[in-house]
Amino acid sequence: MVTEAEAEEVQVSEAQIAVHWREEGYIYPPPGFTGQANASDPAIRERFSEEHFPECFKEYADLLSWDRYWHTTLDTSNPPFWKWFVGGRLNASYNCVDRHLATRRNKAAIIWVPEPESADPVAITYQELYRRVNEFAALLQDFCGLKTGDTITFHMPMVPELPVAMLAAARLGIIHSQVFGGFSGAACGGRIADSKSRILVTMDGYYRNGELVDHKVKADEAVERAREEGTEIDKVLVFRRQPGEYASKTPMVEGRDVFVDDVLPTYRGAVVEPVSMPAEAPLFLMYTSGTTGRPKGCQHSTGGYLSYVAGTSKYYQDIHPDEDTYWCAADIGWITGHSYIVYGPLALGATSVVYEGVPTYPDAGRPWRIAERLGVNIFHTAPTTIRMLRKLGPDEPQKYNFHFKHMTTVGEPIEPDVWRWYHDAVGKGTAVIVDTWWQTENGGFLGSTLPGLEPMKPGSCGPGVLGIYPVILDEAGEEVAPGSGKAGNICIRNPWPGIFQTIWGQPERFVDTYFRKYNRDANSTDWHDWPYFANDGAMQAADGYFRILGRVDDVINVAGHRLGTKELESAALTVPEIAEAAAVPVLDELRGRAVEMYVALKPGVNASPAVEASVSKAIEVEIGKVARPKNVWIVSDMPKTRSGKIMRRVIAGISNFADVGDISTLANPDIVDDIRHHVQSEKVARGETPRELSAKEMEEIQAFGLAE
Ligand code: WTA
Repeated sequence: MVTEAEAEEVQVSEAQIAVHWREEGYIYPPPGFTGQANASDPAIRERFSEEHFPECFKEYADLLSWDRYWHTTLDTSNPPFWKWFVGGRLNASYNCVDRHLATRRNKAAIIWVPEPESADPVAITYQELYRRVNEFAALLQDFCGLKTGDTITFHMPMVPELPVAMLAAARLGIIHSQVFGGFSGAACGGRIADSKSRILVTMDGYYRNGELVDHKVKADEAVERAREEGTEIDKVLVFRRQPGEYASKTPMVEGRDVFVDDVLPTYRGAVVEPVSMPAEAPLFLMYTSGTTGRPKGCQHSTGGYLSYVAGTSKYYQDIHPDEDTYWCAADIGWITGHSYIVYGPLALGATSVVYEGVPTYPDAGRPWRIAERLGVNIFHTAPTTIRMLRKLGPDEPQKYNFHFKHMTTVGEPIEPDVWRWYHDAVGKGTAVIVDTWWQTENGGFLGSTLPGLEPMKPGSCGPGVLGIYPVILDEAGEEVAPGSGKAGNICIRNPWPGIFQTIWGQPERFVDTYFRKYNRDANSTDWHDWPYFANDGAMQAADGYFRILGRVDDVINVAGHRLGTKELESAALTVPEIAEAAAVPVLDELRGRAVEMYVALKPGVNASPAVEASVSKAIEVEIGKVARPKNVWIVSDMPKTRSGKIMRRVIAGISNFADVGDISTLANPDIVDDIRHHVQSEKVARGETPRELSAKEMEEIQAFGLAE
């Protein structure tokens, strides 16, 4: 007899077959770009070919200054907890700051652009960065009593104090965990508790969309939530956005909260020796969502991570530290910002632009004015931002005198049409684009074209990057051949230096989520037996280029933010009237995907707009505004299997006006028509009918939630 689980398994495999799209043509990098590129010699592919693995990564590690050289490049003795550059010692802060002083003391390390356009950009030289990092490190050590191996949580906006704090922690071997500033106090508190930090670093307020928003209020919520979860915060360090003024209405808590500018003068001129850390020491945690409500603290190493982001910044971002002005318009609160605003570019001694605000403030010309003024020539952003800028100001780029040689897109699939606007309008037809596919877990890029050597293909990220050997596997673990027209699960066959070391405090989950599925032998110490399962669906064309289709787990990618359905649902369930909740993705013109919530009420409770509003509010409080649902649908019952499992793919189908697929395994198939009628007629009334879904989108929706 086929069990329900098996029946669903079959459906997944069927859903994964046959994804058709028009194959796009190649666009070649201009010869002028290739001529100046860091990777301009095709032999580089050979240097990083599998026969030279793992020693090929010495080329990346050699970009850093080591206190002691490593004796073992890759240690696989405790799979899949790979160790890179074992025996080596180095300090990340030293590598990103001190070592540049000899030759680049007066060069800008960071150029900070405040959101209010009346305020001038602020250049922070490497010398100034060195001062600030040392003084803040002294404060962490002396005033906070932190030492090597401790953890610290930051909940900071996009201000230079954030990289300063990161590098100060790194200087002492303190493991930092920056929580995205847009996340709620509760979300921050949960992460404080998970990482067991005693110190929270925050800011009173920051500019967003023209307003000075109160941010300190979130710190109080965070401390409260952390306490409920068993972790006590000793001190909250509060930076002030405007010197001498307090931007928050929330009172400072006596004995716990301190203004950094009150304490810092004590450490004027302090010099803190960088602690020589083992390559394998954790550098930071970055939390991300997965299939359960508990977020995953991805633990990144010092030596492997820093080597990997330095190497990829050099060859894929093509940064020439003494010539280029590089702007990655991501948030430092995400992995992209850690790797490609802070650690990668600064390890190379580059100038990295940090912008405080939203790209469309005060209008869609803002990014181009910043680029023009600062002479930015390498630009990095996400498809969501590109879509938004195109919608609001398709002709804005041509009004400004800037010229990008290189542009990046990251974080979500980019539609070929959007890609072309990026290339033609923003890149003025001459910039090279890299579409970089990777994840919080990976530290750095996994899939991309080499910008000077490999042609671009809109909608495809390209082949595996240097030293990364991807493969597509089907559910049975068989390889899906390139050009077969079939989709499957993209995996990386080999370890690489940037991969996370574990999930903080959850090593079994690390193995289960990423390695169990395709592990060939649990006792094997041969890395070939441990492919990394990325949890993304993908297809490979005959030319070896990958097209990423999206998540196969219960994660919804909203505007490049990874949101777990379980986190959204638990947030909804904090509303007393709610009995059951289900989160599904809905296609969204600007954000790629948006969240829709379906909720069923407890007996005796009546449906009302107030209940819907409470669900939205609960999600905002528990996770943050980024997660706010597009719609909350109150239903009399959820479509469920006979074992009582909510069939998310059915409601996802309804939300997207797609075929709901086979509903014969439902215990209550009649409910489907009721829900469809209710939701779709309301959507039509609100003008929310989506365009027709492509085959790939249809597949994503129909497979949604089946990974459980
Ligand atoms: C998706 C962001 C298509 C993918 C660096 C992945 C992409 C998830 C791309 C990771 C891309 C990232 N094309 N999809 N170029 N880059 N993704 O952890 O589903 O925030 O698994 O890391 O975003 O998101 P995360």
